[in-house]
Amino acid sequence: MSVKYSSITKKIWMSLMGLFLMVFLVVHLSINLLLLVDPSRELYNTAAHFMGTNPFIQTFQWVLFLGFTIHIILGFVLQIQNWIARPKGYKIKAKSEESFFSKYMIHTGIIILIFLGIHFVNFFFRVKIFHTVPDYILNGVNTGMEDMGIVVVKLFQSPSYVIGYVIALIILGFHLDHGFQSAWQSIGVNNSKYTPFIKGFGHLYAIFIPLGYIAIPLVIYLTT
Ligand code: HEM
Repeated sequence: MSVKYSSITKKIWMSLMGLFLMVFLVVHLSINLLLLVDPSRELYNTAAHFMGTNPFIQTFQWVLFLGFTIHIILGFVLQIQNWIARPKGYKIKAKSEESFFSKYMIHTGIIILIFLGIHFVNFFFRVKIFHTVPDYILNGVNTGMEDMGIVVVKLFQSPSYVIGYVIALIILGFHLDHGFQSAWQSIGVNNSKYTPFIKGFGHLYAIFIPLGYIAIPLVIYLTT
């Protein structure tokens, strides 16, 4: 009984962190889209500068990091528990077999984790550790901000990077397609009134958020 209870507690934490990460993905996408709205990169660099220097956001970054860590660790723990339980015919999350993508959450999760590692080296580490981001010069004047936009544009001019990015985002979409509805089930919202809406919204989210991310490298690659 205690094993079952702790699995449910883990599932609830996992889903709360997953939903939190899904909100973060929307904020992150909104900032990324500034690169398409303003090709001079001024808007994007200003937003990136704000995110990188504002004390509230800087503190919040640790909450985000914690959210990822909890989600990832619990994902592995639940999956391992499930694998151990499976030969005995006891499944911790039989409901997750409802959808195709549910069977591959750990696999899609591991691919997202690899992508996150590459993402961190390319962006976060470059700014915070390696300090290899050039200054942003606007109309011949050094703005005092880093030109994160040019780092992104240069990466998105590489076909192999663009292909890898697009594949990773499609896989993220698979993870989110099951993840959104599963998270609501895990926190106990599972009824005929709300579940159809949650499923429909989840499908739309899992299609349009990754598509928004994918549009950015494609447009940059094709136009710069
Ligand atoms: C932006 C990144 C991510 C988002 C937004 C996200 C979101 C979600 C959501 C909402 C769920 C459903 C939670 C539930 O059913 O209780 C989920 C499940 C899961 N996630 Fe993630 N996730 C992300 C990254 C990762 C990563 C990096 C891993 C690493 C392995 C991972 C592993 C899993 C696993 C294994 C499950 C299934 C858990 C279960 O059904 O018991 N996720 N994810």
